[in-house]
This record gives sequence, C-alpha cells and structure tokens, in this order.
Amino acid sequence: MPSPTPINRIVVADPAALASTAAARLMARIEANPNRIAICLTGGSSPKQLYQLLATDAWAKRIPWDRVHWFIGDERFVPPTDPLNNMAMARKIFLDHLAQQDHIHPIPTDAASPDEAARRYERELKIFYGTDDLDPKRPLFDLVLMGVGPDGHTASLFPGYPALAETKRWVTGVPQAHVEPFMPRVTLTLPALASCREMLFEIAGHEKRAILDKLSKDESLPANQARSLGETVLLVDRAAVGE
Ligand code: 6PG
Repeated sequence: MPSPTPINRIVVADPAALASTAAARLMARIEANPNRIAICLTGGSSPKQLYQLLATDAWAKRIPWDRVHWFIGDERFVPPTDPLNNMAMARKIFLDHLAQQDHIHPIPTDAASPDEAARRYERELKIFYGTDDLDPKRPLFDLVLMGVGPDGHTASLFPGYPALAETKRWVTGVPQAHVEPFMPRVTLTLPALASCREMLFEIAGHEKRAILDKLSKDESLPANQARSLGETVLLVDRAAVGE
C-alpha cells in the first residue's frame, strides 16, 4: 500500500478566499477526470460558503452535473428533514436544484440504528465502486472534503473512539458524539476516506487557532490520522493560523 504523501498547507486571506480556493481545487479534480466523478462532502459550518459558491451561475455552469456523484463523509443520525442533517444542508444550498437527484447519495438515517445505516451506506459505496476491496490505484473518491472539530475530530471520528481504529469497515455507527450536537453519528472510516485523489480540509476563523496548535503537537488526533493516499491539503485562513 502506498504511504500517504506529505500534507500541503495553504494559507489564504479569509473565509471568502478559502471558499474560492476550495472551489477551484474541486473544479480541477473534476476536470482531471473525464469519466464518472465522486465527491465526498462534509458537514459542519466550514463548507457552507463553498457550497454557496458552487450554487452561483459562474461555478455551477462549469460542473458537468451528469457525471458527478455526491456523497457525505459523516452524518448526524437525524431525519433528512432535520436542520442538523449534514446532507440536508448541502442539498438545500446547492444539490437539490443543481445535481442529478439519483447522483445524490445521503446516509440513510431512516435505518433502525446508526450501525444499520452504516451497513446500508457501505453497501451503496461498494456497489458504486464495483468491488468490496479498495484498490489504492483506483481511489473511491476524486475529492474528500473535511473539517476539524474543537477536540481534533474529523468526519465523526472522535479521539479515542473505536471508529478511529476501524480498518475493515468502510462506514460505521458512532453511538454517541464527543462534542455537540450530541446525537449518534454515522461515519466513513479512515481507509474509506483515504481512498481519494485529494483530501481537502477547510479550517477558518480565530476559534480554530487552539485546535490547529494542538494538531501540530499531537499526531494521534483524528484529524492527523485522516490522510489521502493521494494528496492531502490543509486549507486555512489567516485568522486560524493567528496572522
Ligand atoms: C459534523 C462534521 C464534523 C465537522 C467538524 C467541523 O457532522 O459535525 O462533519 O466533522 O466537519 O466538527 O465543524 P465546523 O465546520 O462546524 O467547525
């Protein structure tokens, strides 16, 4: 298995520059693939500005919507109508009026339990990918978007939780979150998230300074464990790095 490449850190001026840089990277990944494209979105507040940008005419008209499939890296175990649902946020901002409906792949939170939802989503990912084994030479995703929480979690992979050590499952249930909102979660695991051409973290604002500092000292934190087998990019704004 190839080792992850070193992280590429990019500092931009502010959240607006962060969103436009992320949109340009997403577009570059789309343009690099003439076939079917898979983008794994993230929840939280960090990607909202990017999603708003993708909804604008200037960006939307550049995206070959008939070739792009949209997945989500983790979900809060709430109905799709709940404002806390991660995919609902992305759907509302841009997917529902732009993407092909059968190309939107939400985590099924109508399942009986987070683990059942995880099993169903893993099956869906495996059918999409075509086999049950991830081949490092054929990444599952073109791009995986990520955020970082105050405790160093990413997706719903929390520090010290068993989900972080999962090596076989592609998706797993997380009975209780480590930070707010405290509802059960469903998350892609490190091997599934790693199977991408690019993993792009978006980190902005003064409130992220403390965790960025901790990340530079503690390799064990989940956001330091999540790495692409291709390129990993840490996109930060000046406020987050204390400039
Ligand atoms: C979630 C997310 C989570 C998020 C980080 C950062 O469901 O909450 O997927 O991993 O990306 O907590 O959240 P913010 O962008 O809101 O800081």
